[in-house]
Amino acid sequence: MADIKVIGVLGSGQMGLGIAQLAAVAGISVVLVDSSDSALQKGMQGIRSSLQRFVKKGELTQEAANDTLAKVKHTTSLKEMSSADVIIEAIVENEDVKKHLFSELDRIVKPHTILASNTSSISINRLASATRRPHQVIGMHFMNPPPIMKLVEIVRGSATADGVFATIKALAERFGKTVIRSQDYPGFIVNRILMPMINEVFYTLYTGVATKEDIDCGMKLGTSHPMGPLELADFIGLDVCLSIMKILHHGLGESKYSPCPLLVQYVDAGYLGRKSGKGVYSYH
Ligand code: CAA
Repeated sequence: MADIKVIGVLGSGQMGLGIAQLAAVAGISVVLVDSSDSALQKGMQGIRSSLQRFVKKGELTQEAANDTLAKVKHTTSLKEMSSADVIIEAIVENEDVKKHLFSELDRIVKPHTILASNTSSISINRLASATRRPHQVIGMHFMNPPPIMKLVEIVRGSATADGVFATIKALAERFGKTVIRSQDYPGFIVNRILMPMINEVFYTLYTGVATKEDIDCGMKLGTSHPMGPLELADFIGLDVCLSIMKILHHGLGESKYSPCPLLVQYVDAGYLGRKSGKGVYSYH
């Protein structure tokens, strides 16, 4: 594996802060960048409280938690990414915004730097096309919450170099994750399967088959899911679920991927799940 001394993480939301934490726990210096200072403060607080959960369980000493936190430098300046060997982007799921960022990063970072995206469904080839280094662009998709979930889905674009794939696979393994590989198709593996199920669950609720509680209980106790799928949709974010369904629908062109009107209605109303205090359930 190429020597990775510094990892740049873009975006200090739930996924970005979790990825920054994983890198710091692995002993790598992290530069965490977000455009908003308050988002960065919230992100650092998220890392602190997640580390404390491991300290409480005796899986990490307080000293190791402090050392880990000290490895994460946070800033609003994108230029600070120039020191990174690998960048993992975890900003909003919007293709144009990501492409713009990738083309800016391409100018700022070192020639050998790998640009990885935590995108859950956007084409790696299209992100790569915004740069002059498509062979160094790759998908590195973590599951939420990154410190706990054991999987990383790696997505190769058509141009991704073998050495870049090997470096990112070794990095994910250093984070303690199991790697699966996907071709660059809408939703990759996990969301290609998970999101149509969540969408179908919304149809089940929409058409009055059962209450939300019974639907979730059915899947939790009936199929051993850790969370009911409606609870999970709130956890992921209903806006994220909707945007992935739209990508599946548009990219695969089949009516079975058409987003459920109830999901659309919740998002239109600003009911985005846990993060907004209300989704299918209330969190006040
Ligand atoms: N940091 C550190 N530890 C955490 C944590 C975090 N952010 N979140 C949870 N934990 C730990 C808790 O400390 C607890 O540890 P112990 O059991 O050892 O005490 C354990 O995880 C369980 O947490 P809780 O007791 O708080 O709650 P829970 O039992 O409901 O578990 C959960 C929470 C781990 C999220 C579990 O409900 C779960 O696995 N849910 C399914 C999550 C899932 O499917 N994620 C994938 C979503 S899809 C995706 O991410 C792809 C995409 O692109 C949309």
